[in-house]
Amino acid sequence: MEKQVTDNNRPWFEEDGFWEDVESLIFGKKRIEVAGDEVSQLIKLFDLDPSMRVLDMCCGVGRHALEFARRRFDVTGVDRTERYINRASARASDDNLDIRFVCEDIRRFCEPESYDIVLNMFTSFGYFEDPAEDRVAGLNLFKSLKKDGVLIMDSIGKEIIARIFHARDWHEHEDGTIILEERRTANDWSWMENRWIIFRDGRRFERFFCHRPFSASELKTLLLDIGFSTAKAYGDLEGSPYDHRAKRLIIEARK
Ligand SMILES: C[S@@+](CC[C@H](N)C(=O)[O-])C[C@H]1O[C@@H](n2cnc3c(N)ncnc32)[C@H](O)[C@@H]1O
Repeated sequence: MEKQVTDNNRPWFEEDGFWEDVESLIFGKKRIEVAGDEVSQLIKLFDLDPSMRVLDMCCGVGRHALEFARRRFDVTGVDRTERYINRASARASDDNLDIRFVCEDIRRFCEPESYDIVLNMFTSFGYFEDPAEDRVAGLNLFKSLKKDGVLIMDSIGKEIIARIFHARDWHEHEDGTIILEERRTANDWSWMENRWIIFRDGRRFERFFCHRPFSASELKTLLLDIGFSTAKAYGDLEGSPYDHRAKRLIIEARK
């Protein structure tokens, strides 16, 4: 796989064009709709209630932020991609929901002791090549929590990737876009590289992205090291064990 070098040498996740090209693919109708059920599951599994302040870090187009606000939680959503923050704000005002959205990088946003719940959903952690930056991001999540607050992270765990791994496969998106995916593990499974060849409206283009996949124990170790007092893994939002049948890696880390 040949790494696509961006024009201005920025990392892939700082390319607004990347997020624009994949927006309809990662936030299709079904994925937007499922967020309501996901938030109901989160509330049940972690016993959350509307007196709690929520920070949705890397909130994208506000899938979970809007659903928490509908359930009367006080919500702040943060994301670096202005296009997504604008879409999230527009969706909130269309639905008469009062949500604070901030366009900022996870490495910089920190509001100490301010939130009862910090969310980080849909594999939005581990984008930095330098693990020290993951630590900076994790520390911001930790600091932004009040005492006894909870961090909830949802990602595709390394064990799950290994179980379902295909170096190449393809799928047709609900809007008819065809995506050919190529994946590669690098540095002894500490890094994943992905190439999407996208066929849409008679156009063919490629997008490249990469991230650090965490095993449950690697992520728990990082969070405990950052200062969390407990860290527990689940295999889905119903609280199933994180075992060989796990669908997602859900982490509950308490301050
Ligand atoms: C896979 S999407 C998930 C969005 C959202 N959590 C959801 O479940 O719909 C990852 C998000 O992380 C954001 N992001 C990527 N790097 C970031 C950074 N360094 N700081 C803040 N947000 C970032 C992207 O703009 C994108 O919205």
